[in-house]
Amino acid sequence: MKISIKNICCIGAGYVGGPTMSVIAEKCPHIRVNVLDRNQERIDLWNSNDLSKLPIFEPGLDKILEKCRGKNLFFSSEIEENISVADMIFISVNTPTKKKGYGAGKASDLKWVEVCARQVAKFSSGHTIVIEKSTLPVRTAEVIKTILCDKNINHGNQKTFDVLSNPEFLSEGSAIHDLTFPDRVLIGGENDLAIEYLSEIYQNWVPKEKILKTNIWSSELAKLTANAFLAQRISSINSIGALCEATGADVREVARAIGTDTRIGSKFLDSGPGFGGSCFKKDILNLVYLSNYFGLPEVANFWESVVKLNKWHQHRLSELIVKKLFGTISGKKICILGFAFKANTNDTRESAAINICKDLLEEGAFLSIHDPKVDAKQIANDLGIKPIRKDNLSNSSENFEYEGNWLFYDEIVKAVENSDAVLVLTEWDIYSEINWKLISKKMRNPAWVFDARSIVKQKKVIDSGLNFWRIGDGS
Ligand code: NAD
Ligand code: UGA
Repeated sequence: MKISIKNICCIGAGYVGGPTMSVIAEKCPHIRVNVLDRNQERIDLWNSNDLSKLPIFEPGLDKILEKCRGKNLFFSSEIEENISVADMIFISVNTPTKKKGYGAGKASDLKWVEVCARQVAKFSSGHTIVIEKSTLPVRTAEVIKTILCDKNINHGNQKTFDVLSNPEFLSEGSAIHDLTFPDRVLIGGENDLAIEYLSEIYQNWVPKEKILKTNIWSSELAKLTANAFLAQRISSINSIGALCEATGADVREVARAIGTDTRIGSKFLDSGPGFGGSCFKKDILNLVYLSNYFGLPEVANFWESVVKLNKWHQHRLSELIVKKLFGTISGKKICILGFAFKANTNDTRESAAINICKDLLEEGAFLSIHDPKVDAKQIANDLGIKPIRKDNLSNSSENFEYEGNWLFYDEIVKAVENSDAVLVLTEWDIYSEINWKLISKKMRNPAWVFDARSIVKQKKVIDSGLNFWRIGDGS
């Protein structure tokens, strides 16, 4: 018998759960969508009246919240109650790399997924379709199903479950666009009817031919593979960029020349400071772990080299800056423009800026850091620097300062004051509009501009009397 899906919940109100459920709520006004998180602070921010205070920054997200929040979209920490009334439950919790124990440094830590499966088993009622939205190792669905169907955990009562895999392919910074116009939606599962229920939800805005149905293991593996292929392209182009610098070629010209071959394609060929973000490294390492686990060390080594090259590339940039500044940056001031792992997000997870800034601090430089969406507290946290409280009275961010040779600035003009070099690490639009004539007067000569994102107007920098270096440019 066909049921009608009226109540959906999603466990995990993060970078995926928040935007994904917001778009579902917008496109399916007939469905109530509850987004759950055990982090009360995060939920409070999602419920904030001031939409500039949402816990994540995504262009277009505020507009959807304005329209749907309180109507058919709700953010809550009341997990048990919401699970009990849900027809369909998405699991969208974090799956970071394990820090210790078997598989440490490579395998995914599935403890949060397991907690969710136990919660769903215990508190759900009737028939529930459970959907893996998190990125998971192949065969996790088996683990989830075993927990859900364990009578000691679910206490019987006629509970039944279907488990589907529906990985998310959105990119941060363009999440709302990606969710609204996906290249494809992937659904893996065993039960055709359960797949149909989920497919019907997407069909409210996604053309049917873009909804791909596979077996559950293919779906889980396809997500890891997609990220591995994308990251591999970046390591490939960054490796060629280093060769360009050594040979007199220009990586932008090489990228254009190869990208016009339709078999290669032009996307994801921008050489930069190395890929960041919470997923590429973790998902490739997970693939490496799985390959080794299944007795395929050659496959594991092939994919691991993508991560190794990325790390090498980031340290290469730090070393290059030291060399250009006469072999020492001790006591010199370097202005870092951009700390987010890419533009249009406040996310700094695995950002190239973290490793590069740590290297430069280690070499004795003083860093002045600017980013339009990342704050000092986040940067300090990423650099492993503890905050010092000015007094005991307030928890507001103004009441903290940080140890170490760095300062955060809200304004670019202030950040560059007396600096020996400017290093552009995130491709924020504002950095391509900088008035270099003005900036050059504030810097200490001979001053350098290092553009790791190819967004700075080269001629304007050189005309202002500054030295200029750009990624992958050997010309
Ligand atoms: P995130 O850390 O931003 O959010 C996860 C949230 O889950 C956190 O707020 C955490 O408090 C909550 N949580 C964990 N366990 C919980 C529990 N038992 N009950 C309630 N809440 C719980 O993570 P994210 O970036 O949204 O990623 C989630 C998953 O999606 C990961 O597997 C990731 O690989 C995958 N993914 C991420 C992206 C991305 O762009 N960030 C894109 C595609 C896929
Ligand atoms: C990536 C994938 O693109 C998404 O499809 C996937 O869903 C997501 O990971 C995930 O699973 O988490 P995201 O990490 O948000 O999305 O951002 P990307 O646009 O892929 O960028 C990743 C990193 O690569 C960034 O540091 C970016 O600056 C860098 N990059 C990207 C380049 O250096 N050059 C490029 O040409 C493209």
